[in-house]
Amino acid sequence: MVRIGVIGGAGYVGLVTGVGLASLGHKTVLMDIDQSRLEMLRNAKSANYEEGLEPLLAQLIQDDWISFTASQSEAVEDSEAVFIAVGTPSLDSGAADLSAVITVAEQLRDQISGYTVIVVKSTVPVGTLDVITDILSRNLKEGVDFDVVSNPEFLREASGLVDFFAPSRVIVGSGSEKARNILRDIYAPLLAHRTVVEIDFIDSNREIPYIETDAVSAQLTKYAANAFLATRISFINEIAGLSEKVGGNIKDIIAGLELDPRIGPGYLQPGIGFGGPCLDKDLRALVQVADDHSYEPVLFNGVLHRNKLQLRDVFNKISYALGPGLYQKRIALLGLAFKEGTNDVRHSLSIKLFRELREQGATVIGHDSLAMAEATELEPDLKVSSELDSVLRGADLVVVMNSDELYRNIDWTELGFSHELPFVIDTRGVLDQNSLQKAGIKYQILGG
Ligand SMILES: NC(=O)c1ccc[n+]([C@@H]2O[C@H](COP(=O)([O-])OP(=O)(O)OC[C@H]3O[C@@H](n4cnc5c(N)ncnc54)[C@H](O)[C@@H]3O)[C@@H](O)[C@H]2O)c1
Repeated sequence: MVRIGVIGGAGYVGLVTGVGLASLGHKTVLMDIDQSRLEMLRNAKSANYEEGLEPLLAQLIQDDWISFTASQSEAVEDSEAVFIAVGTPSLDSGAADLSAVITVAEQLRDQISGYTVIVVKSTVPVGTLDVITDILSRNLKEGVDFDVVSNPEFLREASGLVDFFAPSRVIVGSGSEKARNILRDIYAPLLAHRTVVEIDFIDSNREIPYIETDAVSAQLTKYAANAFLATRISFINEIAGLSEKVGGNIKDIIAGLELDPRIGPGYLQPGIGFGGPCLDKDLRALVQVADDHSYEPVLFNGVLHRNKLQLRDVFNKISYALGPGLYQKRIALLGLAFKEGTNDVRHSLSIKLFRELREQGATVIGHDSLAMAEATELEPDLKVSSELDSVLRGADLVVVMNSDELYRNIDWTELGFSHELPFVIDTRGVLDQNSLQKAGIKYQILGG
């Protein structure tokens, strides 16, 4: 058992990490500056929707494996390892905003006692671990020692817990054997599939790859992974655009691509582009790191450029379908979070599209299975309704933004439209085309 503090413990990564570490049998204190989220967590409620999280939280609280505090010193004072999971959003320049990480490090300097491992979970550019080390080294108290380790996070929102307990890999970046030993202790139960609470989706036959490397490589691996995923998305979007021009069928093209073992499946679904809290931000930060080192990131710039064009293309399709002027046109936006299965609306391209449509005078009605409250908190002007049928019936045009099962299962023939049929744009290729055709609805799928 290792005593662990998690700073930023009420955030997406901090919470899943904290719950995961506590489930492995480590006494874990989650610290955050967000008092209202902490209060919810004390009652086993999470503001971030993650399947299975709340029951697990309730169990860990009851068994006294996990606790919560707004005081960083309380989370740090008895901890042998302190995980930093605060946000690193984009600055206007594209560089990562490290202010929260630096604030945490400055306080840590006075709070750590004895030997402490500082584990950086936040996605931070190469060089940040040196910055943290410099801050902690200044006026260090007698008898206090530390190591700073990179342990990048690869979880996907909406499958965060599965990704914690059955990760594709765990990466630990550090040159210190002492720190590596503590990280091995922390992750040993995970690698042995041993938990103090019952986790039903653990596959105990699967070996979890555990990679030890230097801190620079660990940090760069995280950025490389996100850059690669973003590249696949821009790649398939570009192929889909071309397919549309030449009369191809993108579904068949994808089927033919992903069966190639050198290409494989995943992240080959055309859409409005990549949004959300990570891909765009991390790719822009990577471009900034390359610029700082006088290295021209031609590929990454191209990936970002294609991504920008995607949203414009969808907007143009909407304008084209509705004729001149969007004023007072009713547009149904299906899917408001940045993807299905989450209530996270940060940098959601649906919200961006809503803003552009509103600017042109359109009336937008949004629908989402999980994120309607979060979307209206961000955009109070956005009208939403949980009555999917009535959202569809009243619309001049419907845009499907994510692949929620609910949208896949719409039976368009059953809707009973009383006025003109809407035009449908399916940006994810998820709708039942037979049903659309039977209902006599005109539709367009990205990629043809
Ligand atoms: N969300 C993801 O899917 C994901 C996946 C992998 C990596 N990451 C990375 O993990 C990091 C965290 O991302 P997130 O999505 O969890 O962000 P988040 O905004 O959900 O969480 C950050 C948390 O840090 C807290 N915080 C900010 N300043 C603080 C301080 N000084 N002291 C204590 N708490 C503080 C905030 O209140 C918030 O609860 C980022 O670097 C991100 O790039 C995110």
